[in-house]
Amino acid sequence: MTIRFSSSTREVPVAAKVPRHVAIILDGNGRWAKRRFLPRFAGHRQGVESLRSAIQACVERKIEFLTIFAFSSENWRRPTEEVTLLRQLFLSALESEVEKMHRNGICLKIIGDLQPFGSRIIELVRHGVDLTAGNSRLTLTIAANYGGRWDLLQAFNRIRADPAQAGKSITESDLEKHLSMNYAPEPDLFIRTGGEQRISNFLLWNLAYTELYFTETLWPDFDSKALDAAIAWYRERERRFGRTSEQLSPASPQPVVTPTNCTSS
Ligand code: IPE
Ligand code: IPE
Ligand code: MG
Repeated sequence: MTIRFSSSTREVPVAAKVPRHVAIILDGNGRWAKRRFLPRFAGHRQGVESLRSAIQACVERKIEFLTIFAFSSENWRRPTEEVTLLRQLFLSALESEVEKMHRNGICLKIIGDLQPFGSRIIELVRHGVDLTAGNSRLTLTIAANYGGRWDLLQAFNRIRADPAQAGKSITESDLEKHLSMNYAPEPDLFIRTGGEQRISNFLLWNLAYTELYFTETLWPDFDSKALDAAIAWYRERERRFGRTSEQLSPASPQPVVTPTNCTSS
């Protein structure tokens, strides 16, 4: 397995004006429905429509990676009825969307532990991932039964099980090879809809240097204009990655000092 992208804590990435990788916590489906005196599920169904248009908007804006948090490892705590309906929605979206995604040049990836979703979903995911593996217009990752802590632990456990690693210290690059998103650069822009300002156990490792954007807009109302507002906000960020503003100014480039540590003389 090879890593094509380096870590923002080891190398300073090039910050482009359009984010290469956008990661979204879609939140607010339930409140959207409640405001309309509808069952929560109506919000989730409308959320799928929003997702469809967000994918299209990302394709049009030449965003290379879109990662969506669709169901967290903590969402099993919801009422059984809601979990069952969410599972059905996932299944029917896979059944109806995969071929369209393929025709649209989208490469589908799923991260998370799929076992609890059952064999039909696992089979559909396998089919969708295999079918779209050669596409390169947009890599769409759906995080389902995903948790950032789960991801780190499964990576550590796989490293521990590798006899070649016995007795060695784990490096950043060892870990990244085993994380679920080892095929993608770190997200440039994180968006959370629905007003909460938290990560909720999403991509804990990968978001180390991501720009974090929070909006009150509920996910079913999140349209291409809302995406453009997030991208416009992102463009205004100064991505320093530990450096000073002066070092970023082309008028007065500052020398970058080689890192030292407290034991070096
Ligand atoms: C996000 O919307 C969808 C999932 C977590 C599956 P919510 O269902 O969390 O909506 P709110 O936060 O209750 O409004
Ligand atoms: C986060 O949304 C998870 C997903 C969007 C899948 P939640 O609505 O479950 O988040 P918390 O628990 O309120 O932080
Ligand atoms: Mg929520």
